[in-house]
Amino acid sequence: MATSQIFLLFFLLCMSSLHGIATSIENCPVQYCGLGGDGNGGGGGSSVPVKFPFQIINNLESLNPRCRYPRFELLCSGNKTILVLPRSGLFTVRSIDYNLQTLDINDPLNCLPKRFLDNFSLEDSPFEQKIYGNFTFLNCSSSSSSNHVPEHHRTVACLSSENYTVLAVPSRFYNETKLPMLPVPSSCEVIRADVMVPVSGGYWNGLEDDIRLSWSDPHCAPCEYRGEVCRFTNDDTSLVVGCSNSGKESVKYDAIIIVIGFGTPGALFIVALGCYLCGKVWTHDPQRHRRRQTTTELSTSTVVASLDKPTIESYPKTIVGVSGRQPKPNDNTCPICLCRYKPKQTLRTIPKCNHYFHAYCIDKWLRMNASCPVCRKRLRFKSPFV
Ligand SMILES: *[C@@H]1O[C@H](CO)[C@@H](O)[C@H](O)[C@H]1NC(C)=O
Ligand SMILES: *[C@@H]1O[C@H](CO)[C@@H](O)[C@H](O)[C@H]1NC(C)=O
Ligand SMILES: *[C@@H]1O[C@H](CO)[C@@H](O)[C@H](O)[C@H]1NC(C)=O
Ligand SMILES: *[C@@H]1O[C@H](CO)[C@@H](O)[C@H](O)[C@H]1NC(C)=O
Ligand SMILES: *[C@@H]1O[C@H](CO)[C@@H](O)[C@H](O)[C@H]1NC(C)=O
Ligand SMILES: *[C@@H]1O[C@H](CO)[C@@H](O)[C@H](O)[C@H]1NC(C)=O
Repeated sequence: MATSQIFLLFFLLCMSSLHGIATSIENCPVQYCGLGGDGNGGGGGSSVPVKFPFQIINNLESLNPRCRYPRFELLCSGNKTILVLPRSGLFTVRSIDYNLQTLDINDPLNCLPKRFLDNFSLEDSPFEQKIYGNFTFLNCSSSSSSNHVPEHHRTVACLSSENYTVLAVPSRFYNETKLPMLPVPSSCEVIRADVMVPVSGGYWNGLEDDIRLSWSDPHCAPCEYRGEVCRFTNDDTSLVVGCSNSGKESVKYDAIIIVIGFGTPGALFIVALGCYLCGKVWTHDPQRHRRRQTTTELSTSTVVASLDKPTIESYPKTIVGVSGRQPKPNDNTCPICLCRYKPKQTLRTIPKCNHYFHAYCIDKWLRMNASCPVCRKRLRFKSPFV
């Protein structure tokens, strides 16, 4: 083979491995819940398009760490797109407005008022809701109030039953002297005064509609306005985002410029040889490429660090009782796979925060992330010397 042919070969190999580099910071795919629930469902009609900075993380194996912005992880449960709020648990995502950087969420069981009685809070999440109203919740025996709802009160259907009616009223009608002060209706007792309900738009929106949350960071709206794609700008672990108009094409173009810019054949040869050696590793097996990339990130950054096997194994396990009895009575669903715990299944607890998961699910998670998937507490390696 003539030198020039070898050279051309190296050059082509080089381009293919540069392509490999480019794909690692290529635009993240739009994901949907539904059709298998692994986040790759083909659009599923009504399901919410999930784009960067959000990422569906059900399928841990196909996670691309460079598509994943911390605390914007979503889960799929059938058709439903699920957001986990660290303090308040699971919510269904009804829509996401990428231009306005807002998302509408609701209760998976369609009873938001119950979630407010459980002290809804956005603490530790990247989302905001600035306007809250205080509501008083009442429990009224049905016989006396018989379908008559007092002025300014509204029925909370999902908390009521045939034998009693739960009413909600803005607390100020009971407390503020400048309003027509209302008496607590007879035959009703106060469940709680001053329940904080997020309200945006109308005063009753929070109780009867979705909750609208907003986020300010990462600021991807400019990309949306320009019809471009928001993504991480660097192929490392920094959280800097930017816009890209055609994704990998522009990156590849840059790579060509760099190679041509070298000019002298000698320099080109060195680049080509280097690329060829990388290319041998990278282009051979895309799975391996991704793994390599992950490992590099894991070893160079504490942000994405994972836990080792002995540390994971040191976390306590429990077996669900034959009767299905849970270690925590109110906590019967694995936050990772969103399946109910079944008798005889093995659960694992993260001691630091006391959150439970299927051992199978959390072990897989911790091998890629050193944090609790629910509250995101950082976890550490257990020192072999202690
Ligand atoms: C998913 O949504 C489609 C229509 O949007 C519906 O027909 C189907 O039953 C849903 N599946 C589940 C599991 O909710
Ligand atoms: C919510 O907060 C109130 C008052 O701060 C407290 O009494 C109640 O126990 C809390 N409920 C839950 C479910 O945390
Ligand atoms: C309302 O009161 C009845 C008893 O009068 C009780 O059984 C029911 O659990 C209460 N409901 C709520 C939501 O507090
Ligand atoms: C309502 O009360 C009736 C009799 O007082 C009882 O039979 C029924 O089970 C009650 N319903 C609920 C949902 O508690
Ligand atoms: C408002 O009224 C409720 C119900 O009467 C009462 O429990 C609560 O303490 C009052 N709150 C204030 C701030 O006065
Ligand atoms: C709601 O109630 C809480 C606790 O009583 C109080 O701190 C807060 O100022 C109230 N908010 C409004 C908007 O009335």
